[in-house]
Amino acid sequence: MPSTATIQLGDQKFDFAIIEGTENEKAIDISKLRDLTGYVTLDTGYKNTGATKSAITFLDGEIGVLKYRGYPIEQLAEKSTFLEVAFLLIYGNLPTQQQLNGFQNQISKHTLVDEDMKKFFDGFPSKSHPMGQLSSLVCSLSSFYPESLNPRPTPQEFDQTIIKLLAKLSTIVSWIYKKSLGHPYIYPQNKFDYVTNFLNMTFGQRTEDVVIDPIIVDAMNVLLILHADHEQNCSTSTVRIVGSSDCNLYASISAGISALWGPLHGGANQAVIEMLEQIKNDGGDVDKWVNKAKDPSDSFRLMGFGHRVYKNFDPRAKIIKKACDDILEKLGINDPVLDIAKKLEEVALSDPYFVTRKLYPNVDFYSGIIYRALGFPTEMFTVLFALGRLPGWIAQWKEMRENKEPIGRPRQIYVGEVDRDFVEIGKR
Ligand code: CMC
Repeated sequence: MPSTATIQLGDQKFDFAIIEGTENEKAIDISKLRDLTGYVTLDTGYKNTGATKSAITFLDGEIGVLKYRGYPIEQLAEKSTFLEVAFLLIYGNLPTQQQLNGFQNQISKHTLVDEDMKKFFDGFPSKSHPMGQLSSLVCSLSSFYPESLNPRPTPQEFDQTIIKLLAKLSTIVSWIYKKSLGHPYIYPQNKFDYVTNFLNMTFGQRTEDVVIDPIIVDAMNVLLILHADHEQNCSTSTVRIVGSSDCNLYASISAGISALWGPLHGGANQAVIEMLEQIKNDGGDVDKWVNKAKDPSDSFRLMGFGHRVYKNFDPRAKIIKKACDDILEKLGINDPVLDIAKKLEEVALSDPYFVTRKLYPNVDFYSGIIYRALGFPTEMFTVLFALGRLPGWIAQWKEMRENKEPIGRPRQIYVGEVDRDFVEIGKR
């Protein structure tokens, strides 16, 4: 491997160091490019730009590999719980039993949200989208815990903010669901583990605990683990860049939630089910919709297909497809949209348009079908993605702070008007 890359501008040559990551990823370090040459790079959508050096998640989109802190996603999905994965992502190593118990206990102690927060829930119109509520409520946590505004907390203070956020998000998410139904909120209970507590607050009744089927607890753990981190995607980059201005953790995560909302990112899981419903209601002619997706003059895309980095298969999709089949079978659910999904997958995977562009079903193609089988309404799907992604966002924010990264501030190439003289309003 060469140790430098040379850029030649006219007669002048400039050498830039080549950096290699632990998984042999290579980069040209152009951090001094503008100082040395006066030039910047142009990379709209950051398709070729490494924004940071990170030790959290590795993925190789060409061969479909995803690892958190070096552990393959397949092993974590099969053998661990969401809370173990959260600890791993945030603190770098798998917890011992004692550390895990301590983590769970700390979280259990903080699952209550301030009663004043209920006034926010009351203020939202009943039809407001859960993601808008989630983003606002998470940002508002900074008002209830003003100590989080200190940009230089001690590690203990920072840990407390992390614990509070992890703990309260599950309560907030389940209360958003309850509000959408107009049902009373169910309070958290310390006797349950993280996922069971969340499911009890979501599907429980005020008068009695529902018995949460272990199949559902397992499925929920897998779904949350698969979504827990995904290196420098749109929402994670947002969290890091917002945090780079020394903004507090709650506001940074709230910004990440907003970035996740879009249908090209986390919002795809809602969009997939809406698309499948639309195809079903239109008579179920899958070929017609595949042709629409291929037509360059038609803005329709197959939701749940394609990925910015996975150009072979999405390893999360493989795991989730199996989980999807298992859970539908175990719960005895026969969902007509699943038949449409299967046909769509079959047609698209053999169509040259999708094959040549390396467009495969992604994690969101199947997650919506499982969430639906578990009883969640479509508008809640992206909120569940956010619940899963939270540890990843926290880990990335923490790493950015610990690396003392500078404020994120890209350059641009200005292509607008130059040197115009002001003309008064009557003379324009
Ligand atoms: N349906 C039809 N055509 C598509 C699709 C699709 N889902 N995705 C990409 N293409 C075509 C696109 O039109 C383009 O064709 P051409 O080369 O002829 O112009 C080519 O494939 C490359 O697409 P791109 O937009 O340049 O690719 P990108 O890397 O910028 O976009 C993507 C990636 C995920 C935004 C895109 O594939 C997409 O919009 N997919 C549907 C939305 C979706 O499922 N998003 C969830 C992603 S997974 C969850 C997450 O981690 O966020």
